[in-house]
Amino acid sequence: MDKFSVTIMPENLTVYVPQGTNLINAAKTAGIDIESPCGCRGTCGKCQVKIINLGGVDCPDSDYVLACQTRVEKDMVIEAPQFSRLTKHKVLLSSEEKESLLEHGYFKDVEVNPLCKKIYAELDKPDLTDSMSDLDRVRMHLMKNCGIEDVKISISALRKLSNVVREGDFNITLTIVTIKDSAEIINIEAGKPDSPSLGLAVDIGTTTVVVNLIDTENGKIIDSAGTYNKQSAYGSDVISRIVYCDENDNGLELLQKAVIETINELIDTVLKKNKINKSDIPVMVCAGNTVMSHMFLNMPPTFIRLEPYVPGASKYPVVSSKDLGININPDAKVITLPSVASYVGGDITSGVLSTLMSKSELLTLFIDVGTNGELVLGNSDWMVSCSCSAGPAFEGSGITCGMRAMDGAIDWIEIDKESMEVKVRAIGNKKPLGICGSGLIYSLSEMLDSGIIDRAGNILENGSSIRVRMGNEGKEFVLVFAKDSGSGRDVVVTEGDIKNLIRAKGAIFAGIRTMLQQVELDVDAIDRVYIAGGFGNYINITDAVNIGLFPDLPADKYAYIGNSSVHGAMLVLLCQEALYEIEDISDRITYIELSIGNKFMDEFISALFIPHTNLNLFQRCGV
Ligand code: FES
Repeated sequence: MDKFSVTIMPENLTVYVPQGTNLINAAKTAGIDIESPCGCRGTCGKCQVKIINLGGVDCPDSDYVLACQTRVEKDMVIEAPQFSRLTKHKVLLSSEEKESLLEHGYFKDVEVNPLCKKIYAELDKPDLTDSMSDLDRVRMHLMKNCGIEDVKISISALRKLSNVVREGDFNITLTIVTIKDSAEIINIEAGKPDSPSLGLAVDIGTTTVVVNLIDTENGKIIDSAGTYNKQSAYGSDVISRIVYCDENDNGLELLQKAVIETINELIDTVLKKNKINKSDIPVMVCAGNTVMSHMFLNMPPTFIRLEPYVPGASKYPVVSSKDLGININPDAKVITLPSVASYVGGDITSGVLSTLMSKSELLTLFIDVGTNGELVLGNSDWMVSCSCSAGPAFEGSGITCGMRAMDGAIDWIEIDKESMEVKVRAIGNKKPLGICGSGLIYSLSEMLDSGIIDRAGNILENGSSIRVRMGNEGKEFVLVFAKDSGSGRDVVVTEGDIKNLIRAKGAIFAGIRTMLQQVELDVDAIDRVYIAGGFGNYINITDAVNIGLFPDLPADKYAYIGNSSVHGAMLVLLCQEALYEIEDISDRITYIELSIGNKFMDEFISALFIPHTNLNLFQRCGV
C-alpha cells in the first residue's frame, strides 16, 4: 500500500501514513489528538482542520474540512487549529487538600486500616539446626509478630526473596496488600524501608482521568495528576464509544489501550516527579462509571446500551497490574469499585461512600452533573438512584461553539441589561475560543435576565442589538466577535444550542422530580444537596437554579464536593473495611429505570422551559 506524508502545522510535524488513513488517525500518529465527540461518524463537526497544501499544490483559501471524513490520497500539509484539539483540561484534582484524608469523617467510627502496609522484619538467621526455608521464616515472623496468618506471596517477590534476605542480613521490609482478609506479599526490600507505603487512587472519567498518589501511612496526597481520557478520540460520550467498540473489529482493544495509556502517562508523571520506583506501588483503586470500568477491564460493553441495559458485571474481580498493562509493580493489585447498574457506576458508589450519605439520617441528594447525569437520593435507611442522560451539552458537545473546560473556554459571562454589552472570562486568561459547561449555564441565565431569550428559549428580536442576528443555523447571539476571539471566528450561542441546553437541564431536573415522586417526598424534604464532578465545581448555584437545572432550595443546602469519585477511591485505599462498605452501598442503592412508564417523560416535558412550566416550583429564585 502506498504511503503519503502528512505535515501538521503549526508544529511542522511530518508523519507517513498508508493511503486512505483519515486525518484524525494521521494526526494521532504524530501525537496530536483531534477532538472526535461523535466517534468519527462525521456528525459533530468538531474535528475541523484546514488543508494548506495538497500534493505539492498550495491551497491558500481552503475552508475547514472534517478530519474524520478526509482521507489521505496525496502528500498533505494541514493546519490543526487549537479549537479542534484535545488539549490540557481544567481537571479538578484533589491535591488542594492539605489535610490528611485521615481527618475525613469516614474515620470517625472506622479505624484506619490501609490496603497496603510496609512491615520491617528482623528474621531469625538460619543455621544447621534451623534450616527452615526463607519463605517459611518470613511467614513465621508475620504470624508471631504481626498476627498475619496465611500470607501469600507473588511469584516475582518470591523469586527475589532469597537474595534480598541475605542482602539485608535477614533484615527486610515487606510490602503486604490485604484485600478482604487475604494478605499477599507484593514486594521485598533489603533492610529498613526507604519510602513510605504507597498506593494510587484513580478516577476514570469519561472525559478526564485523575491519578492521586497517596501515602497510606499518614493518609496524605503526595501528588496528583490529571488529563483528558485518550478514549475521547473515539467519541465524547459512553454511547458513541460503545458503538465504536461494536462497529470496529479491534474497537474494544483500542479503547482499552487508550485508557491504560492515559493512566500510565499520569502514573509516570507523578512517580518521576516524586522519584518513586514503579515497584514501590503495590495497589491501585479505580473508580469509573460502568462503561469505563468495562472498557478498563477489557470487558465488552455492548449490552449496556441495548434493552434491557444489562452490564457484564457490577462487581469486578481484583486484577494484577500486569494483566492490564498498568506500569506499576507487576504484581500490584488493581481494584475496580463496584457499580449499581449500567448507568450508575463505581464513580457514584465511590462518591456516596465519600459523602457519608449512606450513614446519615439527613436526606441527601447527590448530583453528578455530566453526560450521564447520575443522581442518588437517600439516607442511612434507603437510597435510590437514576441516570437521566443529560447528554454531553454541558461538556460542550452538540453546542455550536461548545468546548470542554480547557484553555480558551469561556467559563463566566455577564450581560449588561441596558447596553447588552457582554463581559466574558476564558480559562487560562486566553482569548476566547468557545464556551464550556459553566459558561453555558451563565449564558442561559444572563440571556434570560437581560431579555434576549424568552422562557421557551427563543431568541427575541430585542431592538437594535447588533449581537442578535440570523446565522447559518437560525437565530444566534454573539458573545464574542471574531476580532476579540482566539480562533478568528465569532463565538455565538444559537437558538439550537439553547434548546439543547434546555433539554440537558430539563433531564436532570426531571430525574430529581421522578426520584422524589417514587419515594413520595417533596423537594423541601431534601436536607442537603451535594454537587459532584469536576465540572460541578464551577457551576454557579444561583444561575443553575435560575435556569431550572437545580431545585429551588436555600443556597446553604448546597455544597460542592469536587471529585468525590477519586475521594472515595482514596478512602478505600486507606481502609480495608471500606471495600465491604462500598459493596454494601452498591447492593443497597435501588436503581430506577427512567425509561419505564411515563413519569420521567411527563416531568421532562414540563421542564423544557426556563426554569419550568410550573413556576411555583421556583418561587425562591424570584420568578
Ligand atoms: S465530525 Fe469528525 S469526529 Fe465528529
